[in-house]
Amino acid sequence: MSRILITSGPTRQYLDPVRYLTNASSGRMGAALAEAAIDLGHEVVIISGPVAIDYPSAAQVIPILTTDEMLDAATATFADCEGAIGAAAPCDYMPKRVATEKISKTGDPISIELIETPDVVAMLGQIKKPGQWVVGFALETEDQRFRATVKLQKKHCDLIVSNGPTAIDSDDNSVELLGPGGRVIESISGNKSHVANRLLSQFDALLIRKT
Ligand code: C5P
Repeated sequence: MSRILITSGPTRQYLDPVRYLTNASSGRMGAALAEAAIDLGHEVVIISGPVAIDYPSAAQVIPILTTDEMLDAATATFADCEGAIGAAAPCDYMPKRVATEKISKTGDPISIELIETPDVVAMLGQIKKPGQWVVGFALETEDQRFRATVKLQKKHCDLIVSNGPTAIDSDDNSVELLGPGGRVIESISGNKSHVANRLLSQFDALLIRKT
């Protein structure tokens, strides 16, 4: 039995006390992966942004709001985990300055300067120790396999799951599991539970330590 960290759902980046940037990630892929990992006897810690779904009751859930909070929780939790699966869709940009009071309308256009948030999976890929593994997801609209392979290398992932935009907020998914150099290990389509079970059985065969 291994302890596995799963990041899941969206993050939020506040512009002012009431408005924020986010995306439509539902957390369903993370929940399906958690269920599949628990079914295989693993212990699961989920670090999740705000979602409307329920995670398996056997999983420990650490709720966070921002990408920075996800990064802090993930780096702290990863230390006692064998592997991490980055199924979250963290907000990639945050405002350079967060207004402390609600931004008032003036009738004129406004500009908000955005800066990049930290990349959680890339950080886990950077800090992983021998024996630890990291699996990323890559969501692309174009050149999916090539771009996913670039991310696998750049973020020091062991494997990457390439999927398209139809994955967002859907019950179904169609993915390619890619290994080093972009080698296609398996193409999987179906509901997220089926996709997650196939992925976990590949992670079990290829990554998870047998003790
Ligand atoms: O957004 P992108 O396609 O680069 O995401 C690829 C992988 O990196 C996913 O596993 C996602 O969870 C992760 N990611 C992250 N932190 C970010 C952006 C993406 O962990 N700020």
